[in-house]
Amino acid sequence: MDVKEGATASTSVSADGQTGADGNAIVELESVTKVYHQGAVDVFALRGLSLSIKKGEFSALSGPSGSGKTTALNLIGALDSPSEGSIRLEGKSLASLGRRELSRIRRDRIGFVFQAYNLMPVLTAYENAETVLRLQGIDPQERRDRVMALLADVGLEGMEDRLPGALSGGQQQRVAIARAIASNPAIVLADEPTANVDSETAEHLLDIMQKLSRTRGVTFLFSTHDPRVMDRASRIIRIVDGRIADDS
Ligand SMILES: Nc1ncnc2c1ncn2[C@@H]1O[C@H](COP(=O)(O)OP(=O)(O)O)[C@@H](O)[C@H]1O
Ligand SMILES: [Mg+2]
Repeated sequence: MDVKEGATASTSVSADGQTGADGNAIVELESVTKVYHQGAVDVFALRGLSLSIKKGEFSALSGPSGSGKTTALNLIGALDSPSEGSIRLEGKSLASLGRRELSRIRRDRIGFVFQAYNLMPVLTAYENAETVLRLQGIDPQERRDRVMALLADVGLEGMEDRLPGALSGGQQQRVAIARAIASNPAIVLADEPTANVDSETAEHLLDIMQKLSRTRGVTFLFSTHDPRVMDRASRIIRIVDGRIADDS
């Protein structure tokens, strides 16, 4: 689709009065460039990336190591800001937001899943999955209902009280998935979520995420070079040297 034509045809105004280029887009990147300054050296991680992710998509950023996948996810997740270009999340330009608002967006609208799970080792599976809901001040009974249902959805019924150290890698990643979607975020950003697990476990994690996408309408954006993830993705955006090489 020609971006400019699309923008004219479907310009929408979100609830807070900001104009989004596309009412259905959760995430929109426009000519995003990211340069890391390493001493005297400039590393161009992204070179003019334009991209739109729609609600309910199950898409993957693929491409060789160093192509800019993690950088793109970090920018979309408001963990870092672009050197040039703009990023909109649910129609809101991230550049227009202050630190507190960005922090709120990371907490309430983004779910993160990392390659290395990143669970708190001293908290149980239940407590890890509950973390964001606690920060949001959701009342204990609702928290319990939501988290227990979610842990059952990811196949961890009966393991709620285990510490991460007593869970397999795949089980820890399932806790991380539950934690990521507990707050009903607009999008889950999953950076190489299957890179640390064996093939069978990877397929199982993908089954779970696909099911969550279908039954709960969760929008996923992966970064991966795992062909098993690419097989399942409804859309593969291939990035090479910080540019989109293919989008299908
Ligand atoms: N914090 C950083 N400081 C300097 N260079 C970085 C940093 N993060 C990533 N890079 C560089 O940016 C490029 C893209 O990295 P990255 O986004 O991690 O790629 P991928 O996730 O596809 O492997 C690489 O050349 C990498 O070395
Ligand atoms: Mg990476």
